[in-house]
Amino acid sequence: MKPKIFVTRRIPQPALDRLSGEFEIELNEADRVLTKEEILKGTKNCDVLLCLLTDTIDEEIIKVNPKLKGIANYAVGYNNIDIEIATNLKIPVSNTPGVLTQTTADLTWSLILSVSRRIVESDCYAREGKFTGWGPMLLLGNDIFGKTLGIIGAGRIGTAVAERAFGFKMKILYTDNKINKNIETNLGATKLELNELLGQSDFITLHIPLNEYTNHLITKNELKLMKDSAIIINTSRGQIIKEKDLIKALQDNEISGAGLDVYEFEPKISKGLKKLKNVIILPHIGSATIETRTAMGMLATNNAIAMVKGKKPENIVNPQIYKKTDSKESA
Ligand code: DGY
Repeated sequence: MKPKIFVTRRIPQPALDRLSGEFEIELNEADRVLTKEEILKGTKNCDVLLCLLTDTIDEEIIKVNPKLKGIANYAVGYNNIDIEIATNLKIPVSNTPGVLTQTTADLTWSLILSVSRRIVESDCYAREGKFTGWGPMLLLGNDIFGKTLGIIGAGRIGTAVAERAFGFKMKILYTDNKINKNIETNLGATKLELNELLGQSDFITLHIPLNEYTNHLITKNELKLMKDSAIIINTSRGQIIKEKDLIKALQDNEISGAGLDVYEFEPKISKGLKKLKNVIILPHIGSATIETRTAMGMLATNNAIAMVKGKKPENIVNPQIYKKTDSKESA
């Protein structure tokens, strides 16, 4: 019998082709998120689960199959999986880092440019037939060139966003647990405490994973520290910003605008956000290019194959499960 990989939703064909032949694939062909019951059923009968960021992989799902050999997430973020439970059960979990870095940085920049130059509003204005000629005060936005960019989280994506900012001759500030020598040396970036960065930046962009420390990192207190001309961009995870507080800050003109690809209650987008003209809302498309989604699929399937074969996947998020306990120490 061939080992079975359960794929919770269709991913690009080259990635699925990689699995065919050697493995049995159980694929959700419908273009929708599976219910918990459906994920439980599929997980029960597979060797490896290949899931998406929209699947909540909780204790019940992880424990439904005592023979589960691994969970391959089709995303770099893995806050949708209970890593602690998987680790306790010595089940490897993998993600897809690296391949979506440039694509997500591009989308971050699309939002920076679009919010500050009111691109969506201008397009609607023109389509609605309101354009009757050039106007000296028509749809004025804000400059980007030479302004200050504050990057929260200077990992792979934060670094790629900083590299693009260099071309706009921006002053680059960042906050991170670690010093990023690369952007300090090559781009002149300066590391600051979060509150200082919030007060000094014209554009603030989030590039951190969602976890217990970053959940609601940005609330009304942090929004109050920002300039009233500041624009905030979020292409990471929605729960990092307390959405209710963001809506209020935008309504009260405490900040100038927001560019969002992710939401606190995703896929639900708060009504308050939809009503605001100074916000651009996108449907979580940070990594959505053909090239990147294919590359993510190849990584996820390579990881799944390694786990089926009992090998350590290349992109392991819980490597501690492979550590041997020192018999002398524990004796
Ligand atoms: C990820 O991989 O975490 C991204 O959010 C997908 O777009």
